[in-house]
Amino acid sequence: MTVKIAIIGFGNIAKAIITPLLEKKFIKPEDVYCVVNSEKSLKNIKKNYRFNINVFESRSKDSKIIWDCQVKLLSVKPQHFEDIIEADNLKSKDNLLISILAGVSINKLTKKFPNHKCVRVVTNLPITVGKGLTGIAWGEKITKDHKQVTKQLFEDTSKIYEFTEDYLDIFLALTSSGPAIIALIVEALSDGGLSGGLPKVLSEELVKEMILGTIDLLKEKKLTTSELKNLVTSPGGTTISALRVLEKKSMRSALIESIVAASNRSKEFG
Ligand SMILES: NC(=O)c1ccc[n+]([C@@H]2O[C@H](COP(=O)([O-])OP(=O)(O)OC[C@H]3O[C@@H](n4cnc5c(N)ncnc54)[C@H](OP(=O)(O)O)[C@@H]3O)[C@@H](O)[C@H]2O)c1
Repeated sequence: MTVKIAIIGFGNIAKAIITPLLEKKFIKPEDVYCVVNSEKSLKNIKKNYRFNINVFESRSKDSKIIWDCQVKLLSVKPQHFEDIIEADNLKSKDNLLISILAGVSINKLTKKFPNHKCVRVVTNLPITVGKGLTGIAWGEKITKDHKQVTKQLFEDTSKIYEFTEDYLDIFLALTSSGPAIIALIVEALSDGGLSGGLPKVLSEELVKEMILGTIDLLKEKKLTTSELKNLVTSPGGTTISALRVLEKKSMRSALIESIVAASNRSKEFG
């Protein structure tokens, strides 16, 4: 890729997106211009980030250079959205802004960045290991080239889904908040193993392998979730005893409501 990329907010998720692209030499460090809010983050990136990218503090005059990059990745927290001000007199009129902010609509992006064609993207942390999921909603007047560049940033590390904007909040809830929910489930099940006397490390390993194996089984044998459940639930057996407890504690409802809550929170950010 030969374009210069500006990254507005170089935190966890921006690093997760950009690092694999630098590792694979898909983009060059000298073509990456990022801006952060604090002196502390600036120093930390300069000292510890293993690629020699250009980095600026948001209040420095030099940081204005980012607006000359044709492609911007907006990756600040939604509460810092209002702090980002588009520069006047942009050199090019063919600028692309890719926002990964939860909840901030294309309409809002377009109003705030009138000299950019805007795209909303939701991605998730498993992109770090090449197993991400990325949802894309295109704004108005997006060109073929803009689409190509956007996809190129994510296609190597994630499966891409293109849809209209109204799916993005629920997509975010499932795929972006989902890893935290799964981590919590892994932790809780491991604690169950611990309660039964297993060492912590072994218990956690067993849970992770069991989850991976279960997903593979569902996919490879093309089983529905209820078919799989019935296969391991014998009358009067151990599994139905476990499931009874989960039904009594409303686990199913808790999980459904957790996704609805995450989606609603994403809408609130908008
Ligand atoms: N984490 C995830 O799994 C995930 C997944 C999908 C989408 N997202 C979205 O990605 C966005 C970033 O999340 P994150 O977890 O990466 O957050 P983060 O680690 O807190 O990173 C935010 C970055 O924005 C910088 N920043 C804050 N104000 C700024 C300003 N005025 N100008 C320039 N930079 C500024 C921060 O700099 P300082 O460090 O100096 O404050 C930091 O580098 C959020 O909008 C979130 O909705 C996150």
